[in-house]
Amino acid sequence: MTTKQKKILVTGGAGYIGSHTVVELYHSGFQTVIVDNFSNSEKRVLDGIKAIIKQPVTLYEGNCNDETFLKNVFQQEPDITGVIHFAAYKAVGESVQKPLDYYQNNIGSLMTLLKVMSAFHVSNLVFSSSCTVYGQPDQLPVTEQSPKKMAESPYGNTKQICEEILEDFVKSQAQLKVTLLRYFNPIGAHPSAHIGELPIGVPNNLVPFIMQTASGIREKLTVFGDDYNTPDGTCIRDYIHVVDLAKAHVKSLYYLEQREGSSFFDIFNLGTGQGNSVMEVIKAFEQIQKEHLNYTIGPRRSGDVEQVYANVDKAGTLFNWKAELSLEEALIDAWRWQKA
Ligand code: WQD
Repeated sequence: MTTKQKKILVTGGAGYIGSHTVVELYHSGFQTVIVDNFSNSEKRVLDGIKAIIKQPVTLYEGNCNDETFLKNVFQQEPDITGVIHFAAYKAVGESVQKPLDYYQNNIGSLMTLLKVMSAFHVSNLVFSSSCTVYGQPDQLPVTEQSPKKMAESPYGNTKQICEEILEDFVKSQAQLKVTLLRYFNPIGAHPSAHIGELPIGVPNNLVPFIMQTASGIREKLTVFGDDYNTPDGTCIRDYIHVVDLAKAHVKSLYYLEQREGSSFFDIFNLGTGQGNSVMEVIKAFEQIQKEHLNYTIGPRRSGDVEQVYANVDKAGTLFNWKAELSLEEALIDAWRWQKA
């Protein structure tokens, strides 16, 4: 089959990274089926996707934890050749308040998906994981061989447990090929401003908070600590444009399809390979806006690691992929989306 007929199930496809990945899948000639329960996304995201790809979007509204629902999707869409699994709760702070919701949803959904994929003999899976599994790495940049650290939150723990479930399941001779993608810090929005990040309530993450401060929704940004052991005292992260991240998912599907054999499991860091501090992000945005951002220095946020950024050689070599968009481009796209 050409990629035109290849159909990919995207769970959480109405989410931030999911929606951008659906767009890049279309650009690469794939068809997609979106599953989403809209617990952390909005239906208008589908209008944004349609505005970009100029095609209808197939949606099944429901919960990946619901085996009957998921089986029905595979029955209705028998030509699904692969799955990208985004659907999960992902707010670190919320996971501390509601650990059972996080364990039930994040682990339960993956296990149900694996059971249904096996039943329908769908063997290609791209799994959304996070650099949070590294905690504070001992060496930087962090490679896929770097040891996983004790999770700082139930959210991070669900990611670690899901990674172990996948590795064990593939080892059990399941007919499954998995690329497990560890995201660093996704930021920005599609340049069309039809889709972007939709934080619900007060944003936890830095860039959406900057955008809401600059647009007057928030009075000021608080920098969580400037007494870290970094050049300017603020934490360092690897901020990757969400469009670059989405493109890496398409590349990882091609990579899976080329893999011989019936079972495969491998892990890939998806970042830019470059670290930037909180202050560098603020200064970059002020430079773009040519105006001051209202921020104060506050106390450290518990659970924050001091520095984490990726060694991205593996995805570069095996996926023939590299992040192309800069921090500045991501901030410009985020601001255009904020204004839209
Ligand atoms: C980045 C830096 C903050 C807000 C989290 C999750 C991770 C992934 C991405 C899901 C830190 C500082 C932030 C603010 C600030 N999510 N900051 N003021 O914590 O690196 O990663 O989101 O997969 O799993 O842990 O991202 O954007 O929250 O913080 O100073 O108002 O910005 O202290 O140093 P983080 P973030």
